[in-house]
Amino acid sequence: MAASQALSVLQATDEFEEILGKLHARNLPEFFELIEERIERERGANGCGAKPRGAEANLGEDESTADITLHSIASEVRNHPCLPPDAVLKSERIRHPTVGEFAALDPVTVVSVDKFLYEDDEAIDEMCDEGMLSRNYCLECGSHRSAPLNFISHSASSQQLKFIFQKALPDLNGKTVVDIGSRLGPVLYGAYFYSGASRIVGIEINPELCAIQEDMVKKFSLRDRIQVINADVCTQATLLQEADVVVMHNVFEFFAPSETQISIWKFLRETLKKKGCHLITLPSLAKSMETLKLSMDLTSWVKQCPLEHITRWIREDEAREEVQQICRYEIL
Ligand SMILES: C[S@@+](CC[C@H](N)C(=O)[O-])C[C@H]1O[C@@H](n2cnc3c(N)ncnc32)[C@H](O)[C@@H]1O
Repeated sequence: MAASQALSVLQATDEFEEILGKLHARNLPEFFELIEERIERERGANGCGAKPRGAEANLGEDESTADITLHSIASEVRNHPCLPPDAVLKSERIRHPTVGEFAALDPVTVVSVDKFLYEDDEAIDEMCDEGMLSRNYCLECGSHRSAPLNFISHSASSQQLKFIFQKALPDLNGKTVVDIGSRLGPVLYGAYFYSGASRIVGIEINPELCAIQEDMVKKFSLRDRIQVINADVCTQATLLQEADVVVMHNVFEFFAPSETQISIWKFLRETLKKKGCHLITLPSLAKSMETLKLSMDLTSWVKQCPLEHITRWIREDEAREEVQQICRYEIL
């Protein structure tokens, strides 16, 4: 192939993704093995030790300046005077879902532990020692029988942010990222420090949460690229149509009744039409629709871009499980 026709790394990655999308899931392991062998041969032939993208995706290692700054922001949010120890504001009125996987759990056994603010087990142990949190609930009051509580995080963790912006998405230089439901702002800070996106916008319906994000933007001088809009997402059609990346992390499940969720998804389907725009969702679109019993033809809207070829390189089980929940789509 002539040099002018050669694919860029991004084009090659896209073509590779397309091939993965066409393969049946049961054939993926065999395909990956063949690819691995091929890469090894290539390395041997070129005498080159370079590892493929994602090979070093041990997300917990090699703390960079970006990681350290993100930890500083988390610590600053944790100590924010308006935020209670469980990191849930009274005005949030989080509702236990009545449909989907969480509906089956007794609400008293579900506790919010913010993964952006309390990243590791040590931080959670500290909270337990200080009596701010318990890991177990009593099965029979007064007895010694107990069972582990179900922890749920309403924020993305640093590992998930690093994965989204450094591994899952292409180069975002000059692009616009929109986080629907930005809450305490982790996605905005992640996009700022782990990507080159030039415009990063959080849409958040709760004004108190917006005030906390604004404080961080000011304190860490992030205003050159981050903007926080206090609004219902359904009033932000123009912004959504300009976005190159739209992040939706569990936005509605704990925050709106089913009928509202259905009308928001219909609005998003009508509004998000920019070809090539990336959607990062957690959980998958199919799961959100299934939970709401909403029948929407996803195949005419988006194509899913598999991420297994990246996640499978992540060595630590816990980090891998966390990022495996992340889905990436491209609008058709
Ligand atoms: C699970 S949090 C997501 C947090 C953040 N994106 C992250 O990943 O760390 C969902 C947020 O969506 C907000 N939200 C819910 N419905 C909304 C709506 N219609 N418009 C804007 N924000 C909304 C909630 O107030 C909540 O803060």
